[in-house]
Amino acid sequence: MLCYKLMSQWRKTPVLLNPITAMKYTRMPIEVESPESLGYNTIECNLAESSVRDVQFKDIDINLDELVICYGDHLGKPELRELLAAEFTGITAADVLLTAGAAGALFIIQTALLTAADHLIVVRPNYATNIETPRAIGCEISFIDLRFEDSYALNIDAVNAAIQPNTKLISITTPHNPTGTVLSETTLRQLCTLAEDNNCYLLADETYRNLAFAAPTPLAASISNRAISVSSVSKAYGIPGIRIGWLITKDAVLQNLFLAGKEQIHICNSVVDEEICYQYLQKKEAYFKAVQKEVAYCFTTLESWIENHAYLQWVKPSGGVVCFPKFKDEVNVDIEKFYKTLLEKYKTYVGPGHWFEQNKRSFRLGFGWETREAFVKGLHNIDKAIGESLKS
Ligand SMILES: Cc1ncc(COP(=O)(O)O)c(C=O)c1O
Repeated sequence: MLCYKLMSQWRKTPVLLNPITAMKYTRMPIEVESPESLGYNTIECNLAESSVRDVQFKDIDINLDELVICYGDHLGKPELRELLAAEFTGITAADVLLTAGAAGALFIIQTALLTAADHLIVVRPNYATNIETPRAIGCEISFIDLRFEDSYALNIDAVNAAIQPNTKLISITTPHNPTGTVLSETTLRQLCTLAEDNNCYLLADETYRNLAFAAPTPLAASISNRAISVSSVSKAYGIPGIRIGWLITKDAVLQNLFLAGKEQIHICNSVVDEEICYQYLQKKEAYFKAVQKEVAYCFTTLESWIENHAYLQWVKPSGGVVCFPKFKDEVNVDIEKFYKTLLEKYKTYVGPGHWFEQNKRSFRLGFGWETREAFVKGLHNIDKAIGESLKS
C-alpha cells in the first residue's frame, strides 16, 4: 500500500507501508544507499563518507587478554566515562551514559522525551536519524531549513518563533552534517536559554566535535541542565565499528530516564567495544595526529579545486570532514546522469542531496576518509562526470 503522510504531516514523499500493519520504521535513503550497503568493493573513490579513514586492528595497540566478557556497567565502563568527562568543565562520569554509537544516544533521547502529543524543532538538512526517529514517534515537527544563500547559518529568531506550548525538544547538530558549519558559542548559549525559558530541552548532536577546525565551543550539556550533548568515536577516530557513543546530561532525573531506555534496548554496551574504546582513547593523541595530517591535505586540495570551479559552489566548512557543494544555478546539468556516470563509469561516490531531503543539485562530499590519491582522483572524476552530464 502506498500511503502519504501517515506518520507525519511533514513527509513529502510516498512511503511504502506493510500491508498488514503500518510499520513504524522506514529505512532512510542514506542507509539504503550507504557505501557499506552498496559494497565497498564497488567504489574506488569513496567521497561519500562522513568520517576519517577506518583503522585496522593491527594498527592500534589493544590488549584484551584480561577482559572478562560479562555484562558491563549499565551506564558504561566507569573508567571510560571518567576519561570522557575529564575533557569538559563541570562534567562528571555520572553525567555520561555510553550508548551504541551516537545513533543509539539519539534514539534513546528522542524516544524517551517525545510522544505524539509533543512538538519538535529540528534543523534541516541534518543527519537523517535526527528527523526520521521523531517521525516514527509521530510528533509534530517544525523544520528550521538552512539555506545556501545564508551560508547555512542557523537563524536563532526562526527557532524562537517556532516554539509552541507543546515544544519538548530543540534539535541541532554542530559541527553540522552535511554542511560543516559550526555554531558559535553565543548561538549555543542562546539555544540553551531558549530551552530553559520555554521548559523544553536542547538536543545538541556534537558527533563531529573533535573535528572542529578551531577550538570547540563549550559542550552544550556543560552550559545548561536543559541541554543534552551527544557524540561518539565514529567520526574523528576511525573506529565506528565498535559502536561506542554517549550522551551527556547534568540532569540526574533525565539521566535515569535515558538509562531506563538503554536497559530496555540492550542492557549495557558490549564490554569488548568499551575496552577497545578505552584503550584507544588513552592513546588518541598519537593516532589523531596522523589522521589530522591526511585530512588537512585533502581539505587544502578540495579548497583549491572548488574555489574557482566552473560549475560548483560551496559554503566553506568550519568543522567536520564533510561539505555540501551545490551546482551553480545557471548550470544546466542532467543530475541523474551525473550521479550514474560518477558511480557506474568512474566508481566514485558522493552523498546525493536526497539523503538529506535536499535537492539533488547539492551533494555531500567527504574529505576525511579516502587516501590522498583516491581523493584527488575522485575530484577529477567528479569533473569528468559533470562534463559528460551537461545539457546544451
Ligand atoms: C550528526 C551525526 N550524528 C550521529 C551519527 C551517528 O554516528 P554513530 O552512531 O556512528 O556514532 C552520525 C553519522 O553519520 C552523524 O553524522
